[in-house]
Amino acid sequence: MNILGIETSCDETAVAVVEDGSVVLSNVIASSRQSFEHLAGVIPEEAARRQIECMIPVLEEALRKATLGWSAIDAVAVTKGPGLLGSLLVGTTTARVLASTLGKPLIGVHHTFGHLTSTWLREAKKQDTLRPGSEQARYPSTALRAGKIQQSTFPILTLSASGGHTDLWYRESHTRGMLLGRTRDDAAGEAFDKGASLLALPYPGGPSIAKAAEGGDPKRYAFPLPLEHDGTFDFSFSGLKTSLKYLLRDFRLDPQSDPEMLRNIAASYQFAICRHLADKVNRSLRRHPETREVHLVGGVSANTHLRQWMTTICGIHDAKPLFRFPSSLAFCTDNAAMIAAAGFFLHQELGDRAFESFETSATLPLEETVLSGSSFIP
Ligand code: KG4
Ligand code: ZN
Repeated sequence: MNILGIETSCDETAVAVVEDGSVVLSNVIASSRQSFEHLAGVIPEEAARRQIECMIPVLEEALRKATLGWSAIDAVAVTKGPGLLGSLLVGTTTARVLASTLGKPLIGVHHTFGHLTSTWLREAKKQDTLRPGSEQARYPSTALRAGKIQQSTFPILTLSASGGHTDLWYRESHTRGMLLGRTRDDAAGEAFDKGASLLALPYPGGPSIAKAAEGGDPKRYAFPLPLEHDGTFDFSFSGLKTSLKYLLRDFRLDPQSDPEMLRNIAASYQFAICRHLADKVNRSLRRHPETREVHLVGGVSANTHLRQWMTTICGIHDAKPLFRFPSSLAFCTDNAAMIAAAGFFLHQELGDRAFESFETSATLPLEETVLSGSSFIP
């Protein structure tokens, strides 16, 4: 099943074609992020205007790269929310027109659910896409038989951390599971972004802080461990950001004029964010020792320091759950391949219910419909 995915929830215009929820035949993204680098965020109207301009060229490029004709597309999947409303509408309007013109089903996907499926994505090998329809091109079936695509095993504990959310899920299947914990204030990515802004580093803050932290001493400055005695699996990052603010103010530190100080502060701040995330994953694994795999997804999953923490945490538990993160950096941050993959798994588990009509919505809590052990995907 070839699904064309469209993702426009923030500043990106992304289109991808994914076969059977795993094999990425194309994954094209145009971003207007560079024009917002000097700001601490995105200007919504400006982002949507750029998306209108980019949509058709990106669509055509995605189809060309997949070496498929329109007739080979079996369904269209699109991010229905949450995100910037104007941006989302560019994507959903395009998807609605496309699906109705092609006479194919349309699947509305929650953005976070897209991230949850990003660990299933694998780049297609070139020869697999050159001759569509040929035996070699039946990539998933042949590759699965040859064991080239690793299958994940539930139950899975998934930490989904981005600029907009930080959620910890216990999942029994793609569409069944429960939310164990979530952030009570800032998201983990937001903590990186706000920290970078305090340190006068460019947006987005995650990669900036990770780069600035290289070679720094993560124990040089001690930040508190949030919600240490709380007993829940929730997160809180606003205290860390405030600690950084007061550290700079009270000690009159000027990291911009002292490269070593900047390295050490960035390393210590990154360490504090990652330790907090890892601490809650560790506690959840103790509560759910039957967990087979731990997945890290969302923009923050690009962080190598955090990946090291997760590897260590999985190693200290008796069951030795497998740790996975998206196979490419392009699948960590926002992309359309994860939306196409999510569309596939929604259809696989919900059947034609996946094709039900939907509204585009800026606020769309994924956990609202969560009941332990029941379907949690609206
Ligand atoms: O998932 P994403 O691309 O967009 C949202 O849905 O928010 O995540 C973007 C977030 C930003 O806050 C960015 O600072 C963070 O992911 N991020 C990182 C890294 N790369 C991106 N955080 C830590 N380390 C990174 N290497
Ligand atoms: Zn995202």
